[in-house]
Amino acid sequence: MANILVTGGAGYIGSHTCLELLEAGHDVVVLDNLSNSSEESLKRVQELTGKSLKFIQGDIRDPHDLDQAFATHKIDAVIHFAGLKAVGESQKIPLSYFDHNIAGSIQLTQAMERAGVFNLVFSSSATVYDEANISPLDETMPTGMPSNNYGYTKLIVEQLLQKLAIADPRWSIALLRYFNPVGAHKSGRIGEDPQGIPNNLMPYVTQVAVGRREKLSIYGDDYDTIDGTGVRDYIHVVDLANAHLCALNNRLNAKGCRAWNIGTGNGCSVLEVKNTFEKVNGVAVAYEIAPRRSGDVATSFANNARAVTELGWTAKYTLEDMLADSWNWQKQNPTGYQS
Ligand code: NAD
Ligand code: UFG
Repeated sequence: MANILVTGGAGYIGSHTCLELLEAGHDVVVLDNLSNSSEESLKRVQELTGKSLKFIQGDIRDPHDLDQAFATHKIDAVIHFAGLKAVGESQKIPLSYFDHNIAGSIQLTQAMERAGVFNLVFSSSATVYDEANISPLDETMPTGMPSNNYGYTKLIVEQLLQKLAIADPRWSIALLRYFNPVGAHKSGRIGEDPQGIPNNLMPYVTQVAVGRREKLSIYGDDYDTIDGTGVRDYIHVVDLANAHLCALNNRLNAKGCRAWNIGTGNGCSVLEVKNTFEKVNGVAVAYEIAPRRSGDVATSFANNARAVTELGWTAKYTLEDMLADSWNWQKQNPTGYQS
């Protein structure tokens, strides 16, 4: 069993990953500045598992916070979630995105080097692929120039980590390219708790269903897809969390830097998501068709064969499970962790 430092561990994907790490018998140290989360998620993770983790309120951009984390705990590997993730916001305040996501990742790897820790799992995104690629997207396809600053930071950090692993063979780095994470832990005690108006489809759907928002705007119904609405590869957050454990296992026994897609391999349209949500949960989701959203592609879904064969990972949950679990979380926590 290993001692894992989880940056951004209080957030949506981080908290679910901490839970799976504890369940698997690992020790967990979370470093999070709580800029987009609350410590309540970690309290609940500990309640659910009956195990404790260490929490440091700190910033990945602060070498002192990082050095203290490594000095106080004998860390074997790092899972790096910390960063900013709102696509629209990244167009308005690019320097903050460069600072948290790029400079923060550099500070983290420098602190790891000082501490002699060279195993890293990095949260990347399917957004790094060139938009000209045709789905299913596989890891051999070219990356492109993401249309927004958030995506650009993911691409830059991927490239920096690839160069680092080439220059210094002590490093072992996994780049996990997430598709569209949704869902929540079965208990409904932890889940996605976006601040303000949600940018992403799933929290918007659940907030309409719970009465916090009037109606869903579906961004475009004239794409070249099954019903004209955008197609994405939705992946249950618990399956995604488990991919991190598989990647850790792989990296603790290997060197170099390698990318893996983490998606189910199935594309679903926005209307399919809305209709299935209504059917599975027995609640109505009011909607309107709105103009296309700038920067959206028609279709994006994964070829996940590399993760299946090399990491021994599989996605276990169906779209129905994802939508039932998202609703279970939202129903129990209508205003998120503030409830
Ligand atoms: P989240 O906002 O819930 O979690 C990120 C966490 O990082 C938060 O708890 C926040 O407080 C913390 N944080 C931010 N800046 C920090 C800093 N400078 N120092 C320390 N902590 C900091 O987001 P999430 O959805 O859990 O995403 C986790 C990671 O996965 C992010 O890197 C994100 O870009 C990436 N990702 C997310 C998605 C998605 O759709 N959710 C898709 C692809 C990739
Ligand atoms: N959508 C709507 N209405 C909404 C929100 C979304 O119709 O209110 C549609 C989008 O147009 C898209 C689909 O639902 O067709 C999924 O949209 P999301 O915003 O949930 O997810 P994206 O695929 O746009 O975003 C994902 C990740 C980001 C990443 C981005 C890059 O969440 O981290 O891909 O493409 F940067």
